[in-house]
Amino acid sequence: MPMPSIAKRLLKPAVFTLCLAPALWMGALAFTGGLGANPIEALTRGMGDWALRFLLVGLALTPLKGITGWGWPVRVRRMIGLFAFFYAALHLSSYVVLDQFFDWSAIWKDIIKRPYITVGMATFIALIPLAATSTNAMVRRLGGRRWKMLHRLVYAAGIGGVFHFFMLVKADLREPMIYAVVLAALLGWRIVTIVRKNAATERAI
Ligand code: HEM
Repeated sequence: MPMPSIAKRLLKPAVFTLCLAPALWMGALAFTGGLGANPIEALTRGMGDWALRFLLVGLALTPLKGITGWGWPVRVRRMIGLFAFFYAALHLSSYVVLDQFFDWSAIWKDIIKRPYITVGMATFIALIPLAATSTNAMVRRLGGRRWKMLHRLVYAAGIGGVFHFFMLVKADLREPMIYAVVLAALLGWRIVTIVRKNAATERAI
């Protein structure tokens, strides 16, 4: 069913506002003392949560289009991916600035000695080329095939984000488990579509 033109025009501003809301909410809580006894940890963790959520929402949009036939999910996919990067950058900034006070030698020691920080950093590094090549000009420069191949890194980033979460929780695995199940379903869907596509190509030959 085609989307009414007013909904089409409002889609991106509405999604943009929704994606920005958690940062504004956490900022407001930080300024009003609403982040609890350990506000720095709450802020770092909150931003990490939203980075992972937006990463998974971004991955869910293509399956959503495949299942429903709606066109709008892919129209906001790039924006949601960039918001995942935005929250990951805020998460990292919160750790570097508020948690470690720019103590680069302590940060370096953390990266080497605490495996969950190593995995978090690797995940963040994987997100950089995705954010940097998100413009139309970069899609044209790289060519569709190469761009698509590069953007498969988003699955590695999803695995890295979930793994990072598993590694840092000490006892209660329920929350990272929910993310792991969602990610496994999205990866499963992706594998099934690739297998089906290959089978169809072979039949056509
Ligand atoms: C850039 C490098 C990264 C560093 C240095 C880092 C560091 C941290 C730290 C210090 C915590 C809090 C641990 C604690 O309080 O015990 C944390 C939690 C978390 N991080 Fe990261 N992280 C990084 C990248 C990422 C990325 C890229 C993602 C998502 C894609 C992510 C998602 C999370 C999640 C979901 C949590 C747990 C939040 C919760 O407990 O609810 N992190 N990270």
